[in-house]
Amino acid sequence: MSAAAVTVRAPAKVNVQLAVGAPRPDGFHPLANVFLAVSLHDEVTATPAGSLTVTCSGPDAGQVPLDRTNLAARAAELLAARHGIAPDVHLHIAKDIPVAGGMAGGSADGAAALLACDALWGLNTPRAELLDICAELGSDVPFSLVGGAALGTGRGEVLTPVEAGTFHWVFAVADGGLSTPAVFREFDRLTADAALPAPQADPALLAALRSGDPDALAATVANDLQPAALSLRPQLADTLAVGTGAGALAALVSGSGPTTAFLVRDEESALKVAAALQASATCRTTRTTTSPAPGATVLTA
Ligand code: C5P
Repeated sequence: MSAAAVTVRAPAKVNVQLAVGAPRPDGFHPLANVFLAVSLHDEVTATPAGSLTVTCSGPDAGQVPLDRTNLAARAAELLAARHGIAPDVHLHIAKDIPVAGGMAGGSADGAAALLACDALWGLNTPRAELLDICAELGSDVPFSLVGGAALGTGRGEVLTPVEAGTFHWVFAVADGGLSTPAVFREFDRLTADAALPAPQADPALLAALRSGDPDALAATVANDLQPAALSLRPQLADTLAVGTGAGALAALVSGSGPTTAFLVRDEESALKVAAALQASATCRTTRTTTSPAPGATVLTA
């Protein structure tokens, strides 16, 4: 029996280490990408329909494509194709994750839609197959399904879970997005003359994650895409400086940006850093949250 509606919640992420190597023949970059899921979520509700349709609600809904380029729609299509059925479903995205921000909001919607359709259609697709479909959808999508804390290798889609204590975060959401391919192209331009080593996870960073010590984590966070994001969007340096000036232990661009992430000691410091960022007018809005958070989870079926 299939259900009448299924809602799945999936988390945003921050990368505490994003080590990038020279582009592969297929154009993708080899990564050592340490992901933490954070407690900001999108929810996708799948209901039976005559054809594949997508709607979206939330403050950033106007920026979300509702056609087949939406990763939620593509997830439904790929899952249906694998099982030889029609992707007839209505997907509603309740969007809370900043759009085009480097927080994997689109990936979260892809993973959530995949689980929601699997439950709605009563398919019971094995987890390994769901992860394959996620990797086909995008490099960050498998992590949205798995959540928690993980090291992503390959182009980011090959995941190894890592241990992580609780950390407090403030995110500053910039005006407008940054295109991930454009940031990788800028990375290529900036590193054209460099001999890039094969990306590797930093053992000191993994130890800091395990210990839950924010000072140790702050000393080891690193994002190789940050110079490229700052080159395309120099104003982000001002946002980073405001957060550091207000007491953030570390300030970095989240993934390919333009969202910036601030590691803080506790909730009290989070509120102080968020207030300073809001007052500075160097960002559109701020969000405070913690890591890690669970991966895509069925809420109602
Ligand atoms: O995998 P995904 O579709 O999210 O990637 C979006 C774009 O980001 C790719 O088309 C590519 O330009 C860039 N990318 C990359 N190397 C990676 C992941 C993404 O160059 N490991």
